[in-house]
Amino acid sequence: MQRTIVGIDIGTTKVGTVVAQLSDSGRLNILGVGVAPSKGLDKGVVVNIDNAVSAIETSIEKAERLTGYRIGTAFVGVSGRHISSLNSRGVVAVQRPDQEITRSDIARAVEAAQAVAIPTQREIIHVIPRAYILDGHEGIRDPIGMSGFRLEVETHIVTGEVMAIQNLIRSVQKSGIGIDELVLQPLASGEAVLSAEDKDRGVVLVDIGGSTSDVAIFVQGGVWHTSVISLGGNHFTNDITYVLHTPQNTAEYLKLRYGSAIAGEEGDEYDDEREIEIDTLNANEKQRINRNLLNQILQARAEELVELIYQEIRRSGYEGRLPAGVVLTGGGAQLARLDELVREMLGLPVRIGRPNDLAGLTDTLESPSFATCVGLLRWGLRNGSALSPSQRSADVSGKGSAYERLKNWLREFLP
Ligand SMILES: Nc1ncnc2c1ncn2[C@@H]1O[C@H](COP(=O)(O)OP(=O)(O)OP(=O)(O)O)[C@@H](O)[C@H]1O
Ligand SMILES: [Mg+2]
Repeated sequence: MQRTIVGIDIGTTKVGTVVAQLSDSGRLNILGVGVAPSKGLDKGVVVNIDNAVSAIETSIEKAERLTGYRIGTAFVGVSGRHISSLNSRGVVAVQRPDQEITRSDIARAVEAAQAVAIPTQREIIHVIPRAYILDGHEGIRDPIGMSGFRLEVETHIVTGEVMAIQNLIRSVQKSGIGIDELVLQPLASGEAVLSAEDKDRGVVLVDIGGSTSDVAIFVQGGVWHTSVISLGGNHFTNDITYVLHTPQNTAEYLKLRYGSAIAGEEGDEYDDEREIEIDTLNANEKQRINRNLLNQILQARAEELVELIYQEIRRSGYEGRLPAGVVLTGGGAQLARLDELVREMLGLPVRIGRPNDLAGLTDTLESPSFATCVGLLRWGLRNGSALSPSQRSADVSGKGSAYERLKNWLREFLP
């Protein structure tokens, strides 16, 4: 039987539920997508469970109706300002008398890497092994079957606030869905739009959503730095409302239809529409908007966003060593000429990341807005269903051995 896999991206703007199977050719065969406007979230975090549940249910119902598939469990994206991450090393002595490295050694090393002080109000979302060091030899990707005395693992640990995570879990469970695994949204998006070569060479992924922009920096094939910036596409829209005194939906329309992250250049495609005429709250009046002013507003915000991205690159310690450049994704990445601005300001190659290599009902999904949705499926396929729903609920109530769960997880994660 073909395995069916489901991803639910609970964003600030939309909830997207995607159902897929792995096709014979090894591609993701999309059976259907259900999208609903998001409710009950603020800056990527559930602030009203009932509203969030209603949005999740709507999205799930749509996906189920379209596919005829009854969704039981799903990979679910997590994000928000409460997320933080760190890199940690774990060291163990190899256990077998013949010094051959086994999965159990790796699990113990990863467990040892977790022995860092995590404040009580935070919990671990991911412990991702990046690379191994065997008897001082660095850069080993898969040590199983090799031999040595001392095994070290470099991990990237992602944590989040217990309350925020629990409210997300509760919202999904109240919608009648079990959670296969929570996945940090930019890591999911990275699965959808980055190649193995990008990650090997060094790349910055920026997922520009409604209210946050999620950053993940990959070097030497593994994730090195993740962070969530509190600035997303909605800030651009809000700026337009404040400065031009337009209603929200008009501002959004102006941004999508006429907006550009670089203002004041001649010869662009809307040159003949320098003045834009729009309706005002007063039905009889029209408002004339100068396109150049509109784009100055957008450029100011865009520059702020690029500054914040630059700070993350500096913080990662890999400034000047990311030759694959920047990949922009998420709905906000579609702002005209944003890629150009990022290229100019950071002096790095920039491209827009769209999910590709899909089969089936792919029309909606081949847009940057759906990078997280598609990435959740790819994460699920690659890493397997890490925790069964029952294990996940044990996790939720704080029961069950973390070590056992980690071992199960590693069994799926390793090649
Ligand atoms: N063509 C476009 N040009 C500019 N911005 C766009 C375009 N299309 C969508 N956006 C913006 O993208 C944002 C929504 O992006 P996305 O759908 O990725 O958000 P989300 O995943 O729901 O939110 P988050 O990831 O922050 O929780 C909105 O601010 C919207 O205005
Ligand atoms: Mg998103």
